[in-house]
Amino acid sequence: MRDYYIAGNWKMHKTRAEAADLAKALVDGLKGAKHKYLVAPSFTALETVAPIVKGTNIRLGAQNCAQEEQGAHTGEVSVLQLKDLGVQTIILGHSERRHVYGESDALINKKVKLALKHGFEVILCIGETLDEREAGAAEAVCEAQTVLGLAGITAADMANIVIAYEPVWAIGTGKTASPEDAEAIHAFTRKVLTNLYGKDVAEKTIIQYGGSVKPENAAQLMAKPNIDGALVGGAALKAETFVPICKFD
Ligand code: PGA
Repeated sequence: MRDYYIAGNWKMHKTRAEAADLAKALVDGLKGAKHKYLVAPSFTALETVAPIVKGTNIRLGAQNCAQEEQGAHTGEVSVLQLKDLGVQTIILGHSERRHVYGESDALINKKVKLALKHGFEVILCIGETLDEREAGAAEAVCEAQTVLGLAGITAADMANIVIAYEPVWAIGTGKTASPEDAEAIHAFTRKVLTNLYGKDVAEKTIIQYGGSVKPENAAQLMAKPNIDGALVGGAALKAETFVPICKFD
């Protein structure tokens, strides 16, 4: 009942020309491919990539947004500006936003609500650090980030929420969580969603895995019953690696 959803987070990479080349290669490479796909270029390349992916099976995503609609927020980008560019989805609470830029669960929750209010789909990222995992706190951390990130979000809103479980220790490190370890947290997160919204909503919610997903490990990860796709960083920067992940089956 859940389709696979594979998203590429280009982070702070690519000039407009490079972004256009990659977007065109992905449009070609994913023509007729059967799952749901997304690319999230840097803000500076959104306007370039938008017309290339428009009308294809690739959605346009942004990597963040400001917590306010507009105003004196130097260096921030608002949902109104993202909507103007044709953005459909916003990634929120990425571990780099949490751990490098100090975003709190309360701030992320404010952004989630604002993005939903303006009709965006949200990919809400959760995940524990290595210290937290070693301390046996992986589930508690993921539960808290899910509950606090979704505070005030209704069951109806959940149709526009995707969760991405990204263990921080696996992001950009080449160390992927084993399919079994990832599945354990995905199943646990679905239980958390069941407690919050009931079984029906929890069963429909897509939970992506992120953290060193590559063509070599995508199929094993996505074979797990509660892993419904991937949020890909490094391997999303080249069509030669992203397309095979998207076509894992
Ligand atoms: P990675 O990044 O695939 O390079 O580990 C994943 C992410 O941060 O979304």
